[in-house]
Amino acid sequence: MTRSAFIDLSPSTDRVGRACAWIEREDGFVLMTGLEWGGWTLPGGGIHPGETPEVAAAREAWEEAGAHAEVAGDPFPIVGMSGVESVCVPLRLTGLESSPEGRPVTWVNPRSLPWAEDHQLRQGLAARGQTPAHLLAPRLVQTAGDAARTAGFTRSCSPEVGALLRTLAAARPGGRLLELGTGLGVGAAWLLSGLPDSGRLLSVDWDGTCVGRAWAVLRADPRVRVLLGDWHDALLEAPFDLIFADCAAARTPDTLPALARALRPGGTLILDDLTPRARLDAAWHAGDPLRDAVFTHPQLCVSEVQVSPRECVLLATRTA
Ligand SMILES: C[S@@+](CC[C@H](N)C(=O)[O-])C[C@H]1O[C@@H](n2cnc3c(N)ncnc32)[C@H](O)[C@@H]1O
Repeated sequence: MTRSAFIDLSPSTDRVGRACAWIEREDGFVLMTGLEWGGWTLPGGGIHPGETPEVAAAREAWEEAGAHAEVAGDPFPIVGMSGVESVCVPLRLTGLESSPEGRPVTWVNPRSLPWAEDHQLRQGLAARGQTPAHLLAPRLVQTAGDAARTAGFTRSCSPEVGALLRTLAAARPGGRLLELGTGLGVGAAWLLSGLPDSGRLLSVDWDGTCVGRAWAVLRADPRVRVLLGDWHDALLEAPFDLIFADCAAARTPDTLPALARALRPGGTLILDDLTPRARLDAAWHAGDPLRDAVFTHPQLCVSEVQVSPRECVLLATRTA
């Protein structure tokens, strides 16, 4: 194991939550601090017993970034890449010294790309209603996402995968698209937001509650059908120009040949939610049979694309 390059000034394991600091300069730039493994993050960490989130955020801002700061607004939640929620506290800077933990610090513009797409900064801007217009999710995606949040459904595709789905769907005029695992309709909404009017989408889920809720969101769009059934049932309508295989049962080394057969030549299979190599734990050190199966399939041209620090996607196009 490599030792951390930075000192940890509050190494206790006793934590009652997480807090981070949103320190914005007059020109709108936000203070970020260096991560051990590269890249930048809002200063933050665990809340100690007896601390409020505000006190913890100010302490972390000092320890990690050398920032003296005072509370400047209402806290808002930020969900980390691991799914853990932090209380993000807006702070006003009153002084800046070298980071006591020895970290680099920088100021970035959260309203400009690529920072506007940063996982934390994007949520901070959304909480302020300041997401740049060109980065707002399409209306149907927002509606589906709201319904999923209300229902407590946490397995919708990520925004990064959604944007990729929209891009791929846009390249399929007249295309027949298939989604295996509808969930609450977020992935379908992304696909429909890119799909030309001449295209069609079939989405299947075996959970009647999911299908009912997704249909309530999607049914105004005449290009989509949502099927209640097992993923196998949908393959009866093959061939497809694009398949987003997003239910665990359909994405195994054993099921891969059926998915490849259901693609038209030139059609693309998308598998999301793969963990990047750098984050794979020991259970995966012997390899990933699904990746092996996709890359060795004789009729698939494959590329693995990392869409965020926590997620890779396989894109596999059928050649013949
Ligand atoms: C990851 S969620 C789908 C999320 C959705 N694609 C999205 O991006 O919003 C997986 C879904 O697959 C469904 N599912 C699981 N096994 C299935 C099967 N054998 N056939 C059809 N659907 C299945 C689950 O009910 C669940 O809604």
